[in-house]
Amino acid sequence: MDTPNVCKDFSNEKVLGILRTTEELNRLKDVDAILDKILLESRKLANADAGSIFLVEDQSLRFAYVQNDTLMKGDTSNAAAYADFAVPINEKSIVGYAALTGQQLVIDDAYALSSDQPYHFNQDFDRRSGYRTRSILTIPIKTFEDKLVGVVQLINAQDANGGPTVFDADALAYVPLLANSASLTIERGMMNRELILRMVQTAELRDPEETGAHVQRVGAYSAELYRTWATAKGMDPKLVRTGIDTIRLAAMLHDVGKVGVPDAIIKKPGRLTDEERAVMQWHTVFGARLFMNTNSELDRMSKDIALNHHEKWTGGGYPGKIPDIMAAQAVMGEPKQGEEIPVQARIVALADVFDALTSRRSYKDPWPDEKVLGLLQEESGKHFDPDVVSAFLEIFEVIKAIRAKYREAGSPHA
Ligand code: C2E
Ligand code: SIN
Ligand code: SIN
Ligand code: FE
Ligand code: FE
Repeated sequence: MDTPNVCKDFSNEKVLGILRTTEELNRLKDVDAILDKILLESRKLANADAGSIFLVEDQSLRFAYVQNDTLMKGDTSNAAAYADFAVPINEKSIVGYAALTGQQLVIDDAYALSSDQPYHFNQDFDRRSGYRTRSILTIPIKTFEDKLVGVVQLINAQDANGGPTVFDADALAYVPLLANSASLTIERGMMNRELILRMVQTAELRDPEETGAHVQRVGAYSAELYRTWATAKGMDPKLVRTGIDTIRLAAMLHDVGKVGVPDAIIKKPGRLTDEERAVMQWHTVFGARLFMNTNSELDRMSKDIALNHHEKWTGGGYPGKIPDIMAAQAVMGEPKQGEEIPVQARIVALADVFDALTSRRSYKDPWPDEKVLGLLQEESGKHFDPDVVSAFLEIFEVIKAIRAKYREAGSPHA
């Protein structure tokens, strides 16, 4: 008697792998980390050289993530991940068609599409990059209630020797299984990002200089700096991935302690007096207090960052060592220095100052990039950890792509 199919499937290594991936996805919190993992595992299942994910936003498909083994080196930071464009949901593009019809599309050669198809292959990317797209597998990502969340597109299936081939039946069966299983996780990741953004905006609504764009930039700069720093230290890529996931959100919360600072100071146009500045400095301790007595990794890291993002590598920062930050009569202590400052806080310190200097404030104009880079180099090994400054200079193209993606209306970099 034949073994029923369902049993065969259950002992199937690929299905078990998808279950494992789903479990790992459930431990991630931020949407970028979730998309990174989904794309990596989908590409492994289909043996694809490259891929990207689009997410539904305002009735179009917003480009959300990309990986490309040929053009990008492994787990390094890349500017293309922050490209900012959307494709309409209609039959003219491949991803638009898949979203509109809910069908998966299997294309063996992008340059040999039959002319009776309504959709066309967009050659812009190949022309700009010198990449040669051949096979394309395009799959709508749907929840079990059939709600469309986005589209995953895999490019260039490879045979065992790395030569070009076409997507096979296995890829067509397993990639949709993974993508649909991950759909709710994607929605949760987007919700986490939005919740934190809303929390920050409520806390800082009174501060006309603080915007959602600022915290999104500091979050993304910090995530990419951490990736580069940790990879250079030879950290295990799995740990790097979870570290990126947590710092992305924790860095967005670096200034929530401003809720505790009086309006007259937060809203003051122009320069602060020494007394006002001294009050403002308590935003570090106020922020840390919000995350005490909780023990998730996100809370721990948020506390470390809020408390320590104004400490300096060789000392001279604030609030310094405080025996009990919950004590009503707490006073600021001897400044921390070097590795006494958690690395995530050393990273946010640089991301925050870079963003402050390149932005307009009521008390200063935006600085030109050359002047900012000059200051960062001057302060390397003084205000800033020199390894974090090296990481920053190494990925300056990525930093600029992030700045362009999360710009505010009227900013000089728009
Ligand atoms: P912020 O404006 O986002 O600045 C963050 C950090 O960037 C500052 O931390 C400082 O290290 C650096 N930074 C900002 N502007 C300059 C600048 O013109 N030159 C240099 N060399 N560094 C700069 P800091 O000083 O501890 O200030 C923390 C926060 O306190 C500031 O965040 C801002 O919200 C507030 N603040 C500080 N000084 C003033 C001020 O004179 N007027 C007003 N309205 N707010 C101020
Ligand atoms: C685009 O990059 O414009 C979308 C690609 C596609 O048509 O699938
Ligand atoms: C900001 O990040 O804009 C405020 C700077 C700070 O107080 O850390
Ligand atoms: Fe701050
Ligand atoms: Fe800030």
